[in-house]
Amino acid sequence: MFTVSIIGEKAFSNWPMRITIAQVVLLLCFHEVSQLNWCFTIYIILLTKVLYQHVRGTIKAVLLGFGLISLYTIIRASYTSFSTYSLLASTSDFLTSLAVVLIIQYIVEMERQKNALKEAMKREEMMFEHEKMRVVGELAAGLAHEIRNPLASLRGFLQHSKQRQHNIEPWYDLMMDEISRMNKLTVEFLQFSKPDPSSYRIHSLHECLQKVVYLTGPKVSDLGLRLVYVDNKSDMKVRIDMSKMVQVFVNILNNALESMAGIGSGTVTLRLSQEGPRVVVEVQDTGEGIRAQDMKQIFNPFFTTKVEGTGLGLPICKKIVQDHGGEIEVSSSPGLGTTFSVSLPAVSD
Ligand SMILES: Nc1ncnc2c1ncn2[C@@H]1O[C@H](COP(=O)(O)OP(=O)(O)O)[C@@H](O)[C@H]1O
Ligand SMILES: [Mg+2]
Repeated sequence: MFTVSIIGEKAFSNWPMRITIAQVVLLLCFHEVSQLNWCFTIYIILLTKVLYQHVRGTIKAVLLGFGLISLYTIIRASYTSFSTYSLLASTSDFLTSLAVVLIIQYIVEMERQKNALKEAMKREEMMFEHEKMRVVGELAAGLAHEIRNPLASLRGFLQHSKQRQHNIEPWYDLMMDEISRMNKLTVEFLQFSKPDPSSYRIHSLHECLQKVVYLTGPKVSDLGLRLVYVDNKSDMKVRIDMSKMVQVFVNILNNALESMAGIGSGTVTLRLSQEGPRVVVEVQDTGEGIRAQDMKQIFNPFFTTKVEGTGLGLPICKKIVQDHGGEIEVSSSPGLGTTFSVSLPAVSD
């Protein structure tokens, strides 16, 4: 009956406790009838199972172990005579059960910790996925919103012209502006695309910044501003996607120039230096600065304080720099100017 109860255990899985009690009772009966001392082994196996399934907490487990071994000892005493040998045997039995209890507790505790760790990792992974979806959703919603407004105004013009035969020629420029704006948004948005690591090459950052200076030159002189490039002459190498990195500095420089355009004069300084294993590029302007309440938001997609802004420049810069294993930092004093600093891992010779 004891064996059957073990084999049939799965069939009564809704009552694990009752089945366990039944097994203990049946084992006691078997022991009493058979009067076999090796039943001790079965007690230990049953104890192991019970501890594993039902019992948490060392004190409870030790009490249970001693309880079960006491039952074994009582039954054994009923068919053996009392002697020093049987006393020693009982002591050994209790010590064995104590060892079993402690080992099982240790294993259960280890397993519990392992599961908790696994659980935490799974939760973290889910949160990461969730965050990713949230960002994608936000980007999509933002882009849709930004494009809907110019699209709605274009639609309005066309409808007007169609229904009432209005001549919309005077608004051609306005309509063209709206189309350009949508174009600018989508072109900038495309820069969010994943970088292709195979396009990373070892370049000197000096070469990259020279291109940037060359590209922004016309805008600097148009606005009547000054651009100073300070290069510390050492030839620092970085592994980059050249066109993307040029884009980063052009974006940052454009912001610097735009912040000084309102003032009408100013200098933007581009400084290249090395700090330990990293190469640092600073872009310092003497523009209007960033207000403290805007500081938290400047890297958020679509955040802009400009009438013509897209709010995509900085988030794209941040993403490209991070894709290159770099960091981007800002410090600003409203009214005095802003410094963006981009650091990238240097490639040693
Ligand atoms: N050098 C700077 N000086 C002052 N404000 C800046 C500077 N760079 C960025 N900003 C602020 O951060 C905002 C976001 O910049 P960006 O993402 O490039 O979008 P956009 O230039 O289209 O507005 C800007 O609208 C501006 O308010
Ligand atoms: Mg910008």
